Amino acid sequence: MENDASRPKILITILLFVSFHMIFFSYHLSSSLSLWLSSRTKYFCKDTVTASKMIHLEDAIEVLDKRNQSRLAYYMVDSSRQGVVYGRQACAVESLAKNNPDADVYLLVLYPPRDLSVQTNEQLDMVKRHYPNIQMLSLKMEKLTKGSILEEWYARGELNKSSYPVEHTSDLIRVLVVQRYGGTYLDLDFIVLRSLADLSENFVSYQMSSDVNNAMFGFSKNHLITRMILERARDKYEPWAFASIGPLSLIHALEIYCGRNVTEMVKNDTCNDLRVYPSVYFYPIAYTVWWVLFENSTSERLASFDKSYAIHFSNYMSKNEIVRVGSDQVYSVLAKHHCPRAYWSSYDVF
Ligand SMILES: *[C@@H]1O[C@H](CO)[C@@H](O)[C@H](O)[C@H]1NC(C)=O
Ligand SMILES: *[C@@H]1O[C@H](CO)[C@@H](O)[C@H](O)[C@H]1NC(C)=O
Ligand SMILES: *[C@@H]1O[C@H](CO)[C@@H](O)[C@H](O)[C@H]1NC(C)=O
Ligand SMILES: *[C@@H]1O[C@H](CO)[C@@H](O)[C@H](O)[C@H]1NC(C)=O
Ligand SMILES: *[C@@H]1O[C@H](CO)[C@@H](O)[C@H](O)[C@H]1NC(C)=O
Repeated sequence: MENDASRPKILITILLFVSFHMIFFSYHLSSSLSLWLSSRTKYFCKDTVTASKMIHLEDAIEVLDKRNQSRLAYYMVDSSRQGVVYGRQACAVESLAKNNPDADVYLLVLYPPRDLSVQTNEQLDMVKRHYPNIQMLSLKMEKLTKGSILEEWYARGELNKSSYPVEHTSDLIRVLVVQRYGGTYLDLDFIVLRSLADLSENFVSYQMSSDVNNAMFGFSKNHLITRMILERARDKYEPWAFASIGPLSLIHALEIYCGRNVTEMVKNDTCNDLRVYPSVYFYPIAYTVWWVLFENSTSERLASFDKSYAIHFSNYMSKNEIVRVGSDQVYSVLAKHHCPRAYWSSYDVF
């Protein structure tokens, strides 16, 4: 008798226990689980997806010429010929868009991928579909240079003489775009940690103690600095010199504009309308110790990013380093938070 009466109670207790845990776990896992599931579903439906996802990118110049200039603009450029945007690059785009929902994020692509369905572009596809402030546009050098300081220079085929065509093209595009439209440029190997809206309109940043880098900068339209860089490319281009139109040209323009050398700017970060931000803003991990990002994270490490707007992860050095999805690695912990779509739509390795 006693056994029969207690049976329903035990059943109810078990049921309550199970449902409580289901609710608890679904609450915590739902977002990541649904992301994970949707990426698997896509994987199994690959054939039907291919046809519907051929890329038709709009022309960058046509879209940007008509953009609403009272909105903040951020530009990232893929000038590789690989035709894919990898997970960590998709993470860069996502972290920028997620932390700056009121700004326009433009991913300008020089050699557009054929479609978004191949496995390597899945993360980008997930990201693009979720953030209405991201636009992926096709950029053509002829159109970008037309009407610019470099129009004739480019038409003469000067850039074709380059010993470093990918680097030089990339160095020029960022300056041409910011000169023409104003806004902020970022390389694709950043992870953005917060809104960039409170930065000065015109800024550069130290990478190491007294070394300014061109991986990220912001200028208003037609700024004297970007004009000086383009004029220098037109007049003094050295096709065989790796850094001809990159960081050295930016530093040269800065020193003229500010009337003092970059070492001196450490002491006083303001010149005219321009700020020279400390390395902790965008390069909290120096490229000489890039591997720190792939170690397990600690609370001290994460606290060291309190003042940082973004972290540069020096892709050319770190690209072969593995990040396991779900691991405690610094990059993994940050990516989970700042680029969840790119992160969870990756398989086991990010
Ligand atoms: C441009 O953007 C501003 C700020 O977001 C907004 O107030 C304004 O209505 C927009 N103008 C147009 C024409 O969309
Ligand atoms: C540069 O070289 C490419 C390929 O060799 C050619 O198609 C293009 O017309 C050249 N550009 C200019 C401006 O001469
Ligand atoms: C920068 O300028 C300061 C003061 O004019 C000078 O003492 C210093 O040697 C300069 N540094 C470089 C690297 O030119
Ligand atoms: C920094 O330099 C600018 C000139 O470029 C000057 O106007 C300003 O007063 C200086 N600030 C400090 C704190 O010395
Ligand atoms: C990092 O943490 C993982 C557990 O998340 C552990 O298995 C691994 O041994 C740790 N690696 C190092 C180098 O401490």
